[in-house]
Amino acid sequence: MPFQQKPLNLAKELERKFPAEVLSTLREVGKFASQMGMTAYAVGGFVRDLLLGTPTLDIDIVVEGNGIALAQKLAQMWQADLTVHERFLTATLQWRLREPKSASTHAPIHACTLSRLDIATARKERYPKPAALPEVEPASILDDLWRRDFTINAMAICLDPKRFGELVDPTGGFNDLQRGIIRVLHERSFVDDPTRIFRAVRYEQRFGFKIERKTLRLICHARDESLLTKLSRDRIKHELWRMLQERDPTKPMRRLSKLRILPVIAPELCVTTKRLEWMRRANEWLNWFAEKFPEKRLEREWALLLTLLPNAKAMDLFSQRYQLGESERECGLALLKALKRRTPKRPSSWVRWLNPLPLEAALVLAAKRSLPNDPLWQRYFLEWRWARPDITGEDLKACGILGRSISVGLQAALAVKLDEGADASKQLEVALRRAQRYRTSRR
Ligand code: CTP
Repeated sequence: MPFQQKPLNLAKELERKFPAEVLSTLREVGKFASQMGMTAYAVGGFVRDLLLGTPTLDIDIVVEGNGIALAQKLAQMWQADLTVHERFLTATLQWRLREPKSASTHAPIHACTLSRLDIATARKERYPKPAALPEVEPASILDDLWRRDFTINAMAICLDPKRFGELVDPTGGFNDLQRGIIRVLHERSFVDDPTRIFRAVRYEQRFGFKIERKTLRLICHARDESLLTKLSRDRIKHELWRMLQERDPTKPMRRLSKLRILPVIAPELCVTTKRLEWMRRANEWLNWFAEKFPEKRLEREWALLLTLLPNAKAMDLFSQRYQLGESERECGLALLKALKRRTPKRPSSWVRWLNPLPLEAALVLAAKRSLPNDPLWQRYFLEWRWARPDITGEDLKACGILGRSISVGLQAALAVKLDEGADASKQLEVALRRAQRYRTSRR
């Protein structure tokens, strides 16, 4: 953490850490709020991460006054898309990814740096019953900070032109950040919102912090009182997925398991040291693949969970519980089947073994059988999986091959290309021989 002492004003730090466009956005938000008779603040994770020296562009703005009115004004000025949630007094501005605009427009930022801004009215919350969504009413910034989950998330930076950069920290968030502590603000925190149990674990493991003793007691109490079961499946899934998106997802999963929370929400997950090691490697394989093929979308969270689901029954139970689709289930079953085979020698056998699998399953399998830098496995994902023969079905048709014999021939052509480096004419020769043999065998 870059600060020895609690800073009173973070304007200099904001200037040091953010590009000029982002800074001018923050200043403009403060300025327009002030012109409308309101005060705007940047809050939550944005402040926490700035103080930790790892600034983020995930910016939440809270306004003493009417956040939606301010958002409407800014959206109009900056030509941003606006989504409003009247019930929660929140709005989101989004800029469609775009080229930098001409100097004549008002837009102070360009989408390459900031693509979204969340704006909310400062508010108090009332939970009508445990784990229900809260009823909200406008309030001061202090009320708004005191309704939050943990002290480290309950700080704000004032954006008003006269107080720009001023740190507002009523709950001791800075101290707890410095000491590495996750602490709730009041005893009913987990009763009001049990999703905070997952959040506590996530922050603790992400930052290498410790959940403070009393907060930990409240978590165990909430678990024993079955408060988690009051949450909808969707909300639990959302939190679980957020854990799996962490840089090292094994850490929160291990902690959730140690706290005996995983058995409550997903008893079919089998968390052992060996399986967590598999998950860690799967995560590395997924990262490696995402870097090589950024355009390919991967169901990362499901891929990671597969390492903790020991059999088809467990997969079925989990996907029913969290209403996953048929494709996830099939991915899991395909993995279980492929795991039964030994790793083959010839490239063509790799292709036959792995190409029918969804990418996620193949990467999880790679994690089981190899270390992340294994050159043979890398070669499969970089080359073999996408390899095609240098001849086409048309070439075979031109030689009188028809129907299913064509794909049999093409498979043989690919095999001889991968295994022996055969050129196109050799591939055609092998393909014809194989296709003819297939045709004869079917007669
Ligand atoms: N918050 C809360 N209780 C919750 C969820 C959120 O008090 N159950 C508050 C916290 O102050 C949090 C802020 O809302 O900082 C924004 O929530 P979110 O975007 O989920 O978290 P971030 O702080 O942005 O942290 P992360 O880095 O995990 O996204």
